[in-house]
Amino acid sequence: MINIAVLVSGGGTNLGALIKACDTGLLKSGRLCLVVSSNPSAYALERAENAGIKKVVLQRKGKTPEEYGDEICAVLKSENIDLVVLAGFMCILGGTLLEEYRNRIINVHPSLIPSFCGEGFYGLRVHEAALAYGVKVSGATVHIVTDVVDGGKILKQKAVDVLPDDTAETLQRRIMTECEQIILPEAVEELCACMLLEKQENF
Ligand code: GAR
Repeated sequence: MINIAVLVSGGGTNLGALIKACDTGLLKSGRLCLVVSSNPSAYALERAENAGIKKVVLQRKGKTPEEYGDEICAVLKSENIDLVVLAGFMCILGGTLLEEYRNRIINVHPSLIPSFCGEGFYGLRVHEAALAYGVKVSGATVHIVTDVVDGGKILKQKAVDVLPDDTAETLQRRIMTECEQIILPEAVEELCACMLLEKQENF
């Protein structure tokens, strides 16, 4: 099994989708071992608690992205984590984490990259920008995390129509339920299955 850590900052709907994928057997090549929250009052922590997943709060306050990445990396290593999933995680990461877990960190972003992504594009802001631009489709992307914000290799994308009466909130909700919560568990299982195969070949 591949040991997965999920990094969160807020509601944790994507964490919820991963927990559900474990329950239904869609996610079968990895197990959710650890939830790391940047926010002590994130509802995602309750989801972790209810699912019996170990959780830890690591706040970013006063740390550079490098220092914060180093701190997270040390915890992940001590828990033998193989794969890191950023699921609604609102901090930029640097340091040894990006080297130690090269090609082993993925992120779900709420737009069709390369639109509406990069620094400053997170959460509701992404959907406000999409509506202000007037795009007719939007969606979500799962990609590898590198030192370029939202710039790593794209693994999966899914689109929905933008409806004439959409608000940022309604668009966000539709993209969460119809895109993010579908492609993130799929991408995690595919990656875990590949990593498992690699582990067996190297054994
Ligand atoms: C989700 O739409 C997620 O894609 C986005 O925050 C929302 C909250 O997720 N993440 C980003 O904007 C990161 N750049 P959650 O309900 O899983 O906490």
